[in-house]
Amino acid sequence: MRAVLCKSHGLPDTLVVEEVADLVPGPRQVVVEVRAAGVNFPDTLIIQNKYQFKPPLPFTPGGEAAGVVRSIGSEVRGVAPGQHVIAFTGWGCFAEQVVVDVERLLPMPPGMEFDIAASFVMTYGTSYHAIKDRAAIKSGETMLVLGAAGGVGLAAVEIGRALGARVIAAASSPEKLKVCEEHGAQDLIDYSREDLRERVKALTDGRGVDVVYDPVGGIYSEPTLRSMAWRGRFLVVGFANGQIPSIPLNLTLLKGCSIVGVFWGDFTRREPKSSETDLRELMGLLAAKRLHPLVSASYRLEEIGAALDAVMQRKVTGKIVVTP
Ligand SMILES: NC(=O)c1ccc[n+]([C@@H]2O[C@H](COP(=O)([O-])OP(=O)(O)OC[C@H]3O[C@@H](n4cnc5c(N)ncnc54)[C@H](OP(=O)(O)O)[C@@H]3O)[C@@H](O)[C@H]2O)c1
Repeated sequence: MRAVLCKSHGLPDTLVVEEVADLVPGPRQVVVEVRAAGVNFPDTLIIQNKYQFKPPLPFTPGGEAAGVVRSIGSEVRGVAPGQHVIAFTGWGCFAEQVVVDVERLLPMPPGMEFDIAASFVMTYGTSYHAIKDRAAIKSGETMLVLGAAGGVGLAAVEIGRALGARVIAAASSPEKLKVCEEHGAQDLIDYSREDLRERVKALTDGRGVDVVYDPVGGIYSEPTLRSMAWRGRFLVVGFANGQIPSIPLNLTLLKGCSIVGVFWGDFTRREPKSSETDLRELMGLLAAKRLHPLVSASYRLEEIGAALDAVMQRKVTGKIVVTP
């Protein structure tokens, strides 16, 4: 089978595609023929050895996929060859086959397309955990989403609306903001041209926002923390901007607000029952057509460099997938 290989850490152009041996499942593992693999920002960090987990070299990147079960281990029950499944693995998915521990596998809901299934779990799982579990958002509250046209950002916009919030989307271009509006954002801020704090103040009549969803970091975090309402929750989701900001802690005192960390990957491992509940609820929202995931482009395995470059150059709206 063909697989993308990261043989030494570096930028996307250092990745290669090679023929490797077919995969064999361990006793509690399943081998899946990948039909589509979701591309996520962490993929760009893992290949540079800049992410929380560090697979030994050489490895195949790609954190999630959807496909067809090819073979199962001797102790696997309730999964059969031919079944359509979603795998979330951390790495290994940019290939024709991926091996996955059985507890990191979900059945694909009937009627779901492979590219949607391959790119739903990580982004929507992260944003649902953040907004429902960590911010405990209430209907009628106002949420500001930064990087709102990106993977986790657009998922946050849709989930915020589905949970009854008023959503203000912030992104870096009119084209990206149009996508946010099409996915439910009621108010829009172009933070490449507009003053974030002034716009939030104007949009909320000086009250501020109850929840900030921040997957971007850098120069945007502090102005948005200063734009929070009393008892607000500031969700630390990621640092796509590349800079981890230092925050004056007195701001939390003055606003009676909380800074709340979000780490979906560890949440799924440490609290598997709660994660299962979240994913079941998300699949319910999807089936009820209250979520409309956007897959804006599809790349071949050989185009993996271009796919990851698009993410790093801020060119992606919603999600992109690799289809072996
Ligand atoms: N905490 C968790 O559990 C968890 C889970 C998944 C992902 N994450 C993190 O969340 C962040 C976003 O992930 P994603 O997959 O949604 O990424 P994405 O689709 O690439 O979206 C990131 C957004 O950040 C903005 N951005 C600002 N500066 C950027 C830069 N220098 N390079 C790239 N993007 C930049 C872009 O929007 P504008 O152009 O509009 O500014 C972009 O749309 C990443 O840091 C990722 O590691 C965290």
